[in-house]
Amino acid sequence: MEKTVQLYEGKAKKVYATAEEGLCIVAYKDDATAFNGLKKGTIAGKGVINNRMTNIMMRLLEKNGVPTHFVRELSERETLVRRVKIVPLEVIVRNVSAGSFSKRYGVEEGIVFASPTVEFSYKNDELGDPLLNTSHALALGLATEKEIETIKALALKINGLMKEFWLRHGIELVDFKLEFGRLADGSIVLADEISPDTCRLWDVNTHEKLDKDRFRRDLGGVENAYGEVMRRLMEDAAL
Ligand code: TMP
Repeated sequence: MEKTVQLYEGKAKKVYATAEEGLCIVAYKDDATAFNGLKKGTIAGKGVINNRMTNIMMRLLEKNGVPTHFVRELSERETLVRRVKIVPLEVIVRNVSAGSFSKRYGVEEGIVFASPTVEFSYKNDELGDPLLNTSHALALGLATEKEIETIKALALKINGLMKEFWLRHGIELVDFKLEFGRLADGSIVLADEISPDTCRLWDVNTHEKLDKDRFRRDLGGVENAYGEVMRRLMEDAAL
């Protein structure tokens, strides 16, 4: 499958059309941004790792009944996906306090929750992706009640599957962000990426951060952290 025109360029990926209307190609870049694009940089090799990790996660989820946009990996950095219209909600699931949760509610990082939280942000760079609740999303017409119900149920199912997966590789899944899309028939599927850019991954024993927080917070060792995640992914012979 060949790329035709470029449809979109985001902070970390480009999306291309193909000759087949319902299919797109996603190309992962090494570019990294944080704080709504204020901080810019490059993480060498990130595009390859994020492409590979996303596809492994998508296959794991599909196998367990989660509908996704994934079709097949084309190369180190490129993947064929079904074309969707992205629902403009960032869906964040948290198992442990960290990041904006800790900041907003004035609590330390690392508190393990009795059950996971699900929250939504309005996907809108101009507004800085503000937090919103279900009634706000409905009022803004971002999704229907039924779609929001489906998205929440899928997000929690995905959390259960990924939490267990990462634990087997000595990693605690602290939190992550998902995006969903609508296929031409209106059905909801998981889209976008699942990578160290979009998940907080901590080593179970040392609590070392193995994700983009190393870039956001200038902790150093960013490439090594992404490489370590990749190495643990590859441990699993079934992949
Ligand atoms: P937060 O604690 O900053 O709200 O982030 C929660 C999770 O969402 C964390 O795993 C990182 C991910 N995330 C993104 O994927 N994109 C973003 O723009 C932000 C702010 C967070």
